[in-house]
Amino acid sequence: MTKDLFGKALLDYQNGKYSEDIITSTNISDEDTLPLPYLFRKYTEMPKLEQKALQLSKGHILDVGCGAASHALWLQEKGLNVKAIDNSKGAIEVALKRGIINAKRIPLLEETETFDTILLLMNGTGIFQELSQVSTYLKHLKSLLKSEGQILIDSSDISYMYEDEDGGMWLDLNQGYPGELDYFLSYKGEKEAPMKWLYLDFETLKTACLTVGLKCEKIMDGAHFDYLAKLY
Ligand SMILES: C[S@@+](CC[C@H](N)C(=O)[O-])C[C@H]1O[C@@H](n2cnc3c(N)ncnc32)[C@H](O)[C@@H]1O
Repeated sequence: MTKDLFGKALLDYQNGKYSEDIITSTNISDEDTLPLPYLFRKYTEMPKLEQKALQLSKGHILDVGCGAASHALWLQEKGLNVKAIDNSKGAIEVALKRGIINAKRIPLLEETETFDTILLLMNGTGIFQELSQVSTYLKHLKSLLKSEGQILIDSSDISYMYEDEDGGMWLDLNQGYPGELDYFLSYKGEKEAPMKWLYLDFETLKTACLTVGLKCEKIMDGAHFDYLAKLY
């Protein structure tokens, strides 16, 4: 059972009670902080990949896993028609408090409306959780597309995380796909239930798209093994 610590942290920040950042770690990496202000970033503070995705967004737009809804907010301020969804109760409360007109607590697989643009940003493939679920999520996303619609999603090839200082790899190929991580989050001394979080390299995403009848095109590379893709 999730405690929605992510949502709690967003709410604290929104309500002027910011005192600590979220702490994350994974089965292959040590503790790291996720600064709360970053989740409330302005357009100029966003990575180029995200700016590009916003520039390409048109028509009826869905922001999936919106978090504090920074992307949805920019689009709404530009006069675009955007719906923001998240499965975190706290995130949706924050999105509404920030002025998002259409924000709903809906897990992606329960969304049923159709859209011209679907955004999944800040490692959008994370929501798929593990490789075995990718086709389920992609098929569902495809069913939410209007004709000529597009999915804009970012992720990274994280094989660099398995390199040691000499450039050697310690990747154990018997352990499955290297982008499948166990993700741990804590906030103000409380620990969230462990989650699965998936990073997909571009070629693996492209192959998965082909099997469900989606085309997959790389729009741009990011600064650190990351990329933005368009599925249609
Ligand atoms: C890394 S955060 C990204 C937040 C936001 N897109 C951003 O760029 O700041 C991932 C978000 O996805 C949400 N999420 C995870 N699984 C989801 C699902 N199945 N359906 C909807 N939202 C989900 C989480 O609650 C979290 O808010």
